[in-house]
Amino acid sequence: GIVMALKIIIDTDPGIDDAMAIFYAGLSDELNLIAMTSVFGNVTAEIATRNALVLGDILKQDIPVAQGAKVPLMQKPNPVSDYVHGAEGFGDIPAQTTARRAVEMPAHEYLCQLINENAGDVILCPVGPLTNIALALRHDPFIVSKVKSIVIMGGGLHSGGNVTDFAEANIWNDPHAADEVFAADWDVTVIGLDVTQQVVCPHSDFAALTKTVPVIGSFLSQATDFYIKFYKEAIGIDGCQMHDPITVVACHRPDLFKYEYHPLEVCLHSGRIGETRISADSQRRPAKIAVGVDVAAVKEIFFDTIKTGY
Ligand code: BDR
Ligand code: CA
Repeated sequence: GIVMALKIIIDTDPGIDDAMAIFYAGLSDELNLIAMTSVFGNVTAEIATRNALVLGDILKQDIPVAQGAKVPLMQKPNPVSDYVHGAEGFGDIPAQTTARRAVEMPAHEYLCQLINENAGDVILCPVGPLTNIALALRHDPFIVSKVKSIVIMGGGLHSGGNVTDFAEANIWNDPHAADEVFAADWDVTVIGLDVTQQVVCPHSDFAALTKTVPVIGSFLSQATDFYIKFYKEAIGIDGCQMHDPITVVACHRPDLFKYEYHPLEVCLHSGRIGETRISADSQRRPAKIAVGVDVAAVKEIFFDTIKTGY
């Protein structure tokens, strides 16, 4: 039958797993990646913008990109994660140039414009620090009822953190923004470390792609070679965690996850800063928090889509 592709906007700090997420969204028949917005995080906002444009070039799709926040709302910026994602964002792959330009509008305004133009139809999928999303909420609070839903890669309920014992990287990089996003009255799904740490792929999975889809395959094979070295050294696993791509999978296959429903807040002070936890504030709408995942199914849908879509 006819598949009505879901419109999705990815807010991103590319980033190796961000690249996987963007390729997946660009290649899935069930998703229509209408735009990307960039944010500081794994790399600077400028590099994130260029990388998002370059990923569009690789996809051969003219996906608009708007540049977003260079720094968090309130706190001093953390250093970029070059030891995880490489100096230019994609491991050892040298910086690539692009002929395309970012749209002439800050990311948060562009997000509000697109959400209003496509009222009821857009899934907002942030896979970086939540600064642009908080700025969009401040700019136009009515977007809460105009997005179809927001599906966030960040935090964790039972998992603990990956930067500190308590904080996951995207929340850690702008905890104040994340708390504003969790406080807003909208349909939030959280894909956090509880599930993303369960989905680990060895290098051979990416190397295998070079045969069927050489351009994307060699890109991901080279980038994940670097990324997996980090995982080996940092936590002793022989593969990389698929944080951002499985978050995009959750946008159209929520059935592949199990959830708990709680209002969420972010710890904004002291030693546990950046921790996502259940809020006692009954005014906050419960978020749908993934706590279980069908690991084999999300891996299969990811690699099948990359192999057959390009
Ligand atoms: C998140 O942090 C970034 O390094 C990844 O791209 C992902 O979005 C995982 O904690
Ligand atoms: Ca990311």
